[in-house]
Amino acid sequence: MSDTVQHRHGSSIGQPLTRRDGPLKVTGQATFAADNHPDGMLFAVLAVSGIARGRVVAMDLAAARAHPGVVEVMTPANRPPLAADPDGKDHPFMFRMEALQNDRVRYPGQPIAVVIGETLEAATEGAALLAPRYEAEAARVGLDGAAVFTPQSVGVGNPAAVQHGDVEAGLAAAEHRIEATYETPAQYHNPMEPHGIVAAWDGDRLSLDTPSQGMAIAQGRFAQLFGIRPEDIEIRSPFLGGGFGSKGLPNGPQVLGILAAKLVGRPVKLVLRREQMYGPVGHRAPTRQTIRMGTDAAGGFTAISNHTRTATSTFDDFLEPAADVAHTLYATPALSTSHDAVRLDTGTPLFMRAPGEATGSIALESAMDEMAEACGMDPLEFRLRNYAEVEPASGKPFSSKALRECYAQGAARFGWAGRPLKPRQMRDESGLLVGWGMGTATFPALMFAGNARAVLRADGGGIVQTGAHDMGQGAWTALAQVAADGLGLPIERIDFQSGHSGLPDAGIAGGSAHMATVSTAIHHAGGAVIEKLAALAFGDQRSPLFGAGNAGVVARNGRLHRRDDESRSESYAEILGRAGLQEIEANGTGAPDPAAQGNFAMHSHGAVFVEVKVDPEFGQVRATRVVGAFAAGRVINPRMVQSQYFGGMIWGVSFALHEHAVTDRRSGRIMNANLAEYHLPVNADVPSLEAILVEEHDPHINPLGIKGVGEIAITGTAGAVANAVWHATGVRVRHFPIALESLM
Ligand code: MOS
Repeated sequence: MSDTVQHRHGSSIGQPLTRRDGPLKVTGQATFAADNHPDGMLFAVLAVSGIARGRVVAMDLAAARAHPGVVEVMTPANRPPLAADPDGKDHPFMFRMEALQNDRVRYPGQPIAVVIGETLEAATEGAALLAPRYEAEAARVGLDGAAVFTPQSVGVGNPAAVQHGDVEAGLAAAEHRIEATYETPAQYHNPMEPHGIVAAWDGDRLSLDTPSQGMAIAQGRFAQLFGIRPEDIEIRSPFLGGGFGSKGLPNGPQVLGILAAKLVGRPVKLVLRREQMYGPVGHRAPTRQTIRMGTDAAGGFTAISNHTRTATSTFDDFLEPAADVAHTLYATPALSTSHDAVRLDTGTPLFMRAPGEATGSIALESAMDEMAEACGMDPLEFRLRNYAEVEPASGKPFSSKALRECYAQGAARFGWAGRPLKPRQMRDESGLLVGWGMGTATFPALMFAGNARAVLRADGGGIVQTGAHDMGQGAWTALAQVAADGLGLPIERIDFQSGHSGLPDAGIAGGSAHMATVSTAIHHAGGAVIEKLAALAFGDQRSPLFGAGNAGVVARNGRLHRRDDESRSESYAEILGRAGLQEIEANGTGAPDPAAQGNFAMHSHGAVFVEVKVDPEFGQVRATRVVGAFAAGRVINPRMVQSQYFGGMIWGVSFALHEHAVTDRRSGRIMNANLAEYHLPVNADVPSLEAILVEEHDPHINPLGIKGVGEIAITGTAGAVANAVWHATGVRVRHFPIALESLM
């Protein structure tokens, strides 16, 4: 964009608006994918494997087909052919999926058949009648397995081993050392809205209602699998009931829904039951992280190393990159990180909110606490002693880093200064042990590529179109705020259109990068259309802006003003009306700036302070108070950002105290694949939360200075809880979630 147009940000950007889609949601008018019922629609239900590994040798298809209301049963024998292999993998962002390729079972809960019925009940009962028989092989479970896979560093989920300086020499020379191993469990996705799809074919055209964090990626993959053109696939994903990474890439159940519709020649709806989410849609892999640290006498690092053992499936490679969080946080002359994985009979682990950073930071921040104790230092003082002025792994300066301010503001608000150094020093009035812990939060500030179109209309209103994704976090509102300022219009005059694959491709809503990416695209589209408008005025003798091109204009509230004399102005409607135009439009792209990326390390940061109370007799832990202070560049909507931080901190508490999938060692099945036994914090478990939005200006990252807020707050928090538990009890628990028996 040239500098003839200047935007005045701050009229919409920065306002704590409530969700534009809120009334639709609370009145039940928001149409989620599964709320769609095209004419003639049938219901599809998955039948899934009860064994972890082996072969399906028989199913009672006759009984299922004879059941009243059952229309068809789809198995590997009759499922329509695919144009590409669902086990194909032609780029690193593509993961293998199950679409009834054959009779093999690779994990428990894998789809083995699809029953299609006139009603959900008929299809569900039909699926139960299949009574599959198997040839079972022994399940491979747990991190002690023999089959170890070392990543080859080809991309996503394949972290490279990193070595800077001499870790062994650093440890040998250290005055204080620790070595400790931390274990984090497998966690599974539980968005409120389970995965689902309503699929309808019209010849070679495919119409889909399905929640998606990446509609263009899904179009491309479905096009490949079904041998049709991406533009012949229409995806509607206006609302998501949560995604957290599990809706980022197309999954097997979606392909099965589309196949079922093809098989029966009618629209089909397929929705996963809650327990069916524990397999084919990704999960967070367990980790066993061995951390070694050494410091000199003054508490300055001499070395940090993390080797992570994790798990992946037997048929695909995704390694939770837990060790890598050490690349950015603390200054050290020697650093090493590495990963390997055992192959287990599970679905392939994939992205789950802050993949790597969440698991890695709980271990790193626990180790920081142990190291501070070994040095006899306050944990905050110890972190400040090792504050990274440049990114340790790359040596690059940070594009912005207000972590010191986060530490200071968070500590002041929490009252950290009064904390006794030794554990087990504080009790409340009822005799419960009280402990205070802290952790540093960090997440990379990424951008992908995305597009937007901006339209100015003769009636003075504007339209902004972008195929962005709102997982429920308020993107629809925050992006509309960016659109309003980008077009110089009040937000009420903006028709913001999103959540549909027919709109400009906005890229993937992942990596906390969507706001930065799409906002940049909208900003450029808005700038470009205003420039077109200004050119009309500059060249028209009847306009008060005639010849003002050199001075430039300011776009504000539906008018262009001369920058050097703002009393001379004209409305958008007047300019377009005189030119005889109904509307003008322009496109914009958001993408990372390669020069800035090359010169700077880009991350968001934060500091989280936690109070816990522990029953000294029963070991029951309650997080009672959490204060997080986060710096993530420009805040578009403080209400939405605060909600993201609250959600992240609650998930951090969950990580430390509640969540884990329990696997039966004999069958390999997950024993708590439901919301009753897979524990998540309920309201009574959620502590008093405060999120401080620390001011941070980033002149390098993108024109609006936006980082990302979706994932950072889960990092830092979980470790802070564990550290508070140690401070309350004197017991260092290195196995998560922290169970009461570890404290007795
Ligand atoms: Mo996220 S785990 O990048 O959707």
